[in-house]
Amino acid sequence: MDTVVSGIRSTGNLHLGNYFGALKNFLKMQKENNCYFFIADYHALTTHPKPEDLHGNIKQVLAEYLACGIDPEVATVFIQSDVPEVSELYLLLNMNAYVGELERTTSFKEKIRKQPDNINAALLTYPVLMAADIIIHKANKVPVGKDQEQHLEMTRRFARRFNMMYEVNYFPEPNAYNFGQQLVKIPGLDGTGKMGKSEGNGVFLVDSPQEIKKKVMRAVTDTGPTAPGQEPSEPVMNLFTIMNVVSDQDTVKYFKDKYASCEIRYGDMKKQLAEDIIKFTNPIRLRINDILSDEKYLSKVVSEGAEKARASASKTLREVREIIGYRPF
Ligand code: TRP
Repeated sequence: MDTVVSGIRSTGNLHLGNYFGALKNFLKMQKENNCYFFIADYHALTTHPKPEDLHGNIKQVLAEYLACGIDPEVATVFIQSDVPEVSELYLLLNMNAYVGELERTTSFKEKIRKQPDNINAALLTYPVLMAADIIIHKANKVPVGKDQEQHLEMTRRFARRFNMMYEVNYFPEPNAYNFGQQLVKIPGLDGTGKMGKSEGNGVFLVDSPQEIKKKVMRAVTDTGPTAPGQEPSEPVMNLFTIMNVVSDQDTVKYFKDKYASCEIRYGDMKKQLAEDIIKFTNPIRLRINDILSDEKYLSKVVSEGAEKARASASKTLREVREIIGYRPF
């Protein structure tokens, strides 16, 4: 059985793209592995030093993940800042992380371009904290998207370096979790590109049925097919891609046939699509609200998660301190 660690940024609500692009696979992954899912609320401070509502954002993201089916009875679900052992390992790893390699990290170069007035040291050492998150549980698998591949590569390097430096074979070098062909890219409603939280092209799991309807009815299309058998344009293809994951196959076939015979009415298709998205998101939205109002449940999840995570983390830290040479008097 593999040990999997995945950090979740506590900025922004989950949208359909997050669900079908990642989360849905996490639901299966959590049953087959020893999973640690945590909310990266320290990492959040590197870009949002004065978050308007740090606690509220953490709570929201946690409720959304739980509502989607991340099961705290199966996986270890916790908040990064509840596990102080992570910060200590981060400190120790920083001793063998070099400024040069950190400065060359793509995400760092991007961040300093984006926030020239806040080039803080934690931005530079972001990959070190991420490595600590992962190796503190001696994980061997990390589900990462393209944007996190370099960070995972650096995690492997830091783990390897620790092993070499102290002549031990202690930390495993984690690899990307392979979902096979199951990863779906969900496009946005604006015609091109993928669904995102900042692009304004997404449907959020917390959106009300009215909001969803409004968003879908406004989705970009084209002037319609002019010849039978014509390939749909990108914006129309995108609607079919979304329909493919939320609607049943008969519905998809119905509209594909209508398209092929040039009889399609995009208004009808959007109405159906909105209905099917709502059918999918509405139970999740209600669950999110239920969870958010159940303070007792949330507090139980968080404290049990912290306890499990700390058990694993403190064991590693004890061993790491010993390996480095810290001994009790
Ligand atoms: N850097 C990740 C992101 O931006 C979040 C993260 C922090 C993470 N620590 C992690 C992901 C550990 C996987 C494992 O999405």
